[in-house]
Amino acid sequence: MSIKAFVIGHPINHSRSPLIHGTWLAEHQIDGSYAAIAIAPDELEPFFARLRAGEFAGGNVTIPHKEAVFALCDSVDPLARSIGAVNTLVVTAGRVHGTNTDYLGFLGNLDAGAPDWSERLDQAIVLGAGGAARAVLVALHSRGIRPVHVLNRTLDNAEQLARSIHGPFLAHPLAAFADLAPRAGLVVNTTSIGMHGTRFQDLDLDLLPPAALVTDIVYVPLQTPLLAAAAARGLRTVDGLGMLLHQAVPGFEAWFGVRPEVTPALRARIAATLGS
Ligand code: ATR
Repeated sequence: MSIKAFVIGHPINHSRSPLIHGTWLAEHQIDGSYAAIAIAPDELEPFFARLRAGEFAGGNVTIPHKEAVFALCDSVDPLARSIGAVNTLVVTAGRVHGTNTDYLGFLGNLDAGAPDWSERLDQAIVLGAGGAARAVLVALHSRGIRPVHVLNRTLDNAEQLARSIHGPFLAHPLAAFADLAPRAGLVVNTTSIGMHGTRFQDLDLDLLPPAALVTDIVYVPLQTPLLAAAAARGLRTVDGLGMLLHQAVPGFEAWFGVRPEVTPALRARIAATLGS
């Protein structure tokens, strides 16, 4: 029987996930499909009835449903709970299990792009305190990185975030970058700055140690102004597209039974759709 998987969201037409999973299905000659399905908030519950009836092996969840599906899942992974969002559903024997693979995507991307990134890493700086920052903090904590400085435009939001997840997280305003940068081996941008021509003001990357790694979760454009400035100073950089590709790996494996690879060819295929 053909195995079916999906991504649900509203709107859903910009999702790259069908192309990613479609590439892997073809590569492994699997009798299966992965479709983008537009589901409005009031259609979520009926959709879960279809899931429990066994129509799908599982799928991905995107905006605006990542929090709402919590209440509908029969079980939720503890890490998804600390991140506060579910992005992957796996259906087994009529039960729907919710997980979050964004933090694995973040780690998989760094492991592939800068294999020794966590060795001798002393302190990390995370820019931003929204939903994406939560997944990054959980990821860094899972690798034992401490302390992690959370720098945000609105200090309150950074303080709330640092309090709400278990881990060695310290909240600061963005202006603290100048003081913290000389000891930071990793800088992660989790804000939307870098999209639509926006850029950080007053982040002096010259203050970072020469071995520092700078990474961005923004992938449109692929080379954000932050990454361009870091590369111009000879710092190592990892762009955000890999996070999107690597977060898809555990879902595909759970639904279709094969662990797929993030290859340069897949990356090029998805990058070609980004228009940058
Ligand atoms: P997501 O869930 O995708 O992470 P979000 O919850 O809206 O998105 O979080 C956006 C993050 O980017 C926040 O940390 C936000 O800072 P505030 O808490 O001060 O709002 C940050 N952000 C967005 N636009 C910004 C800007 N122009 N300058 C500085 N920070 C910005």
